[in-house]
Amino acid sequence: MSQGLSNGYAISDPSEALKKPSTATELGRVADCNLDDFKEAIQSAYDAQPKFFYNTTGKQRGDLLRKWHDLIIANQDDIALILCLENGKTLAEATGEVVYAASFISWFAEEATRSYGVTIPSSYPNTALSTIKEPVGVCGIITPWNFPAAMITRKVAPALAAGCSVVIKPPSETPYTCLALTKLAVEAGLPPATFQVCPTKDRQAATELATNPLIRKISFTGSTNVGKMLAKLAAGTLKRTSLELGGNAPVIVFNDADIDAAVEGTMFSKFRCTGQTCVCANRIYVQSGVVKEFTEKLVARVSKLKVGSGLDPSTTQGPLVNAAAVKKIHEHIGDALSKGAKVEFGGIPEGYSTNNGFYCPPTVMSGVTASMIVANDESFGPLAPIFEFGTEEEVLQLANDTEFGLAGYFFTRDIGKAHRVAQRLQVGMVGVNTGKISAAEAPFGGVKESGYGREGSLYGLEEYQTIKSITVAI
Ligand code: SIN
Repeated sequence: MSQGLSNGYAISDPSEALKKPSTATELGRVADCNLDDFKEAIQSAYDAQPKFFYNTTGKQRGDLLRKWHDLIIANQDDIALILCLENGKTLAEATGEVVYAASFISWFAEEATRSYGVTIPSSYPNTALSTIKEPVGVCGIITPWNFPAAMITRKVAPALAAGCSVVIKPPSETPYTCLALTKLAVEAGLPPATFQVCPTKDRQAATELATNPLIRKISFTGSTNVGKMLAKLAAGTLKRTSLELGGNAPVIVFNDADIDAAVEGTMFSKFRCTGQTCVCANRIYVQSGVVKEFTEKLVARVSKLKVGSGLDPSTTQGPLVNAAAVKKIHEHIGDALSKGAKVEFGGIPEGYSTNNGFYCPPTVMSGVTASMIVANDESFGPLAPIFEFGTEEEVLQLANDTEFGLAGYFFTRDIGKAHRVAQRLQVGMVGVNTGKISAAEAPFGGVKESGYGREGSLYGLEEYQTIKSITVAI
């Protein structure tokens, strides 16, 4: 049974053991909230939300967020250690993620004060027409394990800045980082009842969030299948939804590219978080004139990666999140090999074991084609498949031939081509001559079946607001 919801935590029966990806051994246990806990948390957030909004100005909410930001930065080493242990990413990457997570809070602390309405010339005589922005209400927040800190703050900070309350279902694989962030939020003075966290392994919890009439908005980052299901469920009560879903990002290297820069950009995009980001390069298209040079240089860089525990400072590639993630890469490699691709570096030997940690050898393959599984399915791991192409037209056709449209990257020195290809890639985010596109100020989100809504940036706040028009006879 749940207790203590007034302090923002649901305490329920402990879950089964969570595993450390680096050793495949027990990390710990957290509360495993049931549906009654969720209902109670939603009711508590619902009761708290109007008080929070009406009793604070945008500036005051911004001040609270800034305090939360400062506490996170002051405790970044501890949070990074928790994140590293539960997710597996290296301590350096975990620290980077904590700072990245905090940057969304400081960004929305500023945005909280810039929530403008407008005045509109009315067509009626003696009438004043204006708009104000109001919070949507209680928000159900469902986040993934690959960014246990940043995906929480990218959603929760704008929600709180707008004056909403939140009920968070943190990822069942990585709940501890969220709990640590919550503790600091409460310490910063954010009203606990506006910030509900319910760790759970119960898959029905997401259904409860998406169907409970007290919830007015769902923000979800995760798979396209789950996103579609949530959108259908949320439609029953016409909730607002923001969906940041799967990707299948192309990287395109043209003959005229700076190949060293293309290799560096590909390394960042492909191997950040051991290939477990939804904006990771999934298909690497290289034009015929530079395919040999690019492949050799990429292999040289990949051969320097060091796989190991994230706690070891020399590690560059931590483990994957679980054994199933390694198995998926194995299957992608096997399928590509059976259809004529070649392993240029790495590969997973038969009988490879994940009993002592979910490690996955970084792998580069050449001769990959559109008929192979990896062309259509997000690997979500350290597999770099190289496809050779001839012309710009051909590669645009290949790159856009997917139901996904989250991120895309390309490398060229031709300014005209840079603008043309950026326009024609069917994605929500483009990196030109860079693999690094994520930042608090950059709109994050996709097109097609990668979802809708934008996080971060000047657009992120309005995802949690409604516009009210006020007509006054004067
Ligand atoms: C994600 O993988 O969902 C987020 C990646 C990012 O913020 O760069």
